[in-house]
Amino acid sequence: MIKQNYTILAIESSCDETSCAIVVDGRTVLSNIVSSQIDIHTLFGGVVPEVASRNHIMAIDNVVKEALKLANKTINDIDAIAVTYGAGLVGSLLVGISYAKALSFASGKPLIAVNHINGHIASNYITFKNLQPPFICLLVSGGHTAIIKVEQYNQHTVIGNTLDDAAGESFDKVARVLGLGYPGGPQVSKCAEQGKDCITFVKNKDNLGYNFSFSGKKTAVINYINSLKQKNLPIPTNDICASFQSCVVKELVEKTIKATLNSNLNKIVVAGGVSANKLLREELKNQCAKNNIECYFPELQYCTDNAAMIGSAAYFDVLLGKPFANNTLAPQANLEL
Ligand code: KG4
Ligand code: ZN
Repeated sequence: MIKQNYTILAIESSCDETSCAIVVDGRTVLSNIVSSQIDIHTLFGGVVPEVASRNHIMAIDNVVKEALKLANKTINDIDAIAVTYGAGLVGSLLVGISYAKALSFASGKPLIAVNHINGHIASNYITFKNLQPPFICLLVSGGHTAIIKVEQYNQHTVIGNTLDDAAGESFDKVARVLGLGYPGGPQVSKCAEQGKDCITFVKNKDNLGYNFSFSGKKTAVINYINSLKQKNLPIPTNDICASFQSCVVKELVEKTIKATLNSNLNKIVVAGGVSANKLLREELKNQCAKNNIECYFPELQYCTDNAAMIGSAAYFDVLLGKPFANNTLAPQANLEL
């Protein structure tokens, strides 16, 4: 058994957001401070790992203090300290892990090592207080795209994966060739609203089962832009964005619905940065309604990286009896789903 009002201080620093949250019983967020480095990395067109680590070091102490202050708590009110230990950039992870280890040692509070992907899934437990497994999760982030059968909190089986780029990564790359800046997903989505889905880049392959492929679509977009440039023709940015986004969303929606029906489940839970995408939200909700499937998306503030989701996943680790971590905890850049 675990005590009521179990309060976790969670730290997330796997990529370019330094974040700390105070979360009670896995579902209630007292504070969630996110310090984003987007403005810094925009200058380079993407995340520069060494620059990210240095900025985490500068931000982390203030972010943690701010999270405690906003929650009106001191370290004495905290039951455990959680931290993302993978997957992610090794230097960035190291900053969060070192801070969490030091805080755990100094305060005597136990340390919980959290898989970043379990965090993304758990962002939905914050938004939907009664949501419970089992369900099918469509995980769509900058680093991963997968269909996951979630049997129990933090326990799952991957049934489909990307064979090449992740969905978010393909949005970022298309945005880059169009000169739309970083991160690309929100920019492509914004331009798509002004454009028409009128260009067929490539047909979705129908022999991949539940697996995804996005790099062919991205290459087709790049070739299309290059051929227009060679002929000195204008680049229809908005139509390119609308057409690209539409074919990515189509593939995501079709396969997730199929996997859910074939698994005899009636819930789809979406997680990861691309879950903020408006068209994905609309299309998946429409298809779910047609197939009598419940559909869940996290609140927008919990779609991209944040520590609240890490605090939620950590609670369910404790609830299921996963052993606490200790001061040998090390980052795992390629931690498996
Ligand atoms: O989950 P996340 O914050 O970081 C990883 O764990 O990877 O996801 C970031 C990704 C980026 O590739 C970003 O372009 C994408 O999510 N993204 C979006 C949108 N908002 C963020 N992609 C499409 N549409 C959006 N509205
Ligand atoms: Zn993430």
